[in-house]
Amino acid sequence: MMAGEPLSEREAMQNNVGPGKPRIILAASGSVAAIKFANLCHSFSEWAEIRAVATKSALHFIDKASLPKDVLFYTDDDEWSSWKKIGDNVLHIELRKWADLMVIAPLSANTLGKIAGGLCDNLLTCIVRAWDFNKPLFVAPAMNTFMWNNPFTERHLEIVSQLGISLVPPITKRLACGDYGNGAMAEPSLIFSTVRLYFQSQGRVGWNPT
Ligand SMILES: Cc1cc2nc3c(=O)[nH]c(=O)nc-3n(C[C@H](O)[C@H](O)[C@H](O)COP(=O)(O)O)c2cc1C
Repeated sequence: MMAGEPLSEREAMQNNVGPGKPRIILAASGSVAAIKFANLCHSFSEWAEIRAVATKSALHFIDKASLPKDVLFYTDDDEWSSWKKIGDNVLHIELRKWADLMVIAPLSANTLGKIAGGLCDNLLTCIVRAWDFNKPLFVAPAMNTFMWNNPFTERHLEIVSQLGISLVPPITKRLACGDYGNGAMAEPSLIFSTVRLYFQSQGRVGWNPT
């Protein structure tokens, strides 16, 4: 989806978005719950201006054709194909500057651990590593119950909470692997309403009233 073009050109193609809409990065990491990522993008796309980001693992679960047509979709390949020489824009920095808010849904155990440790070896984690934590960042973890109950999860969640990252907790249900337990990603509609409520609590209907 227009992958490989410099961000400035891509943004110029996105001029059908009205002023005042919040600018939101929706990011998916490699949980099976990423099959709901297109649904999540559709939930947000009427209300906000969206840039979508996916890790390499998440791509196994995302049907790009089902994403909203006006959503720009970025992967790790775009980081490097959009940079040719010193002076060119660096995609993760441009996205970090552009966004008012970021949502990582689903958040895999691996990406949670990387964020907690400050690691940044792909587009998604580079955006987070460069993030201005005065801006909201929401995460919706999704993983098998064994992973969710593992002591690493609590440790990593404690660290991301200290950074000011907001948790949209997982839910208990029959998981994709057949096990029953906690760890399933919150429904996209709940993630959307959580972010909307946050905006309302801030007294905002949009973010960039120009
Ligand atoms: C079929 C399949 C389903 C997976 N589902 C999950 C999941 O729900 N949650 C999770 O944390 N990891 C899951 N994994 C493991 C991640 O994909 C793996 O840890 C990967 O390295 C995550 O990379 P990322 O965090 O860069 O996206 C799954 C792996 C496979 C093969």
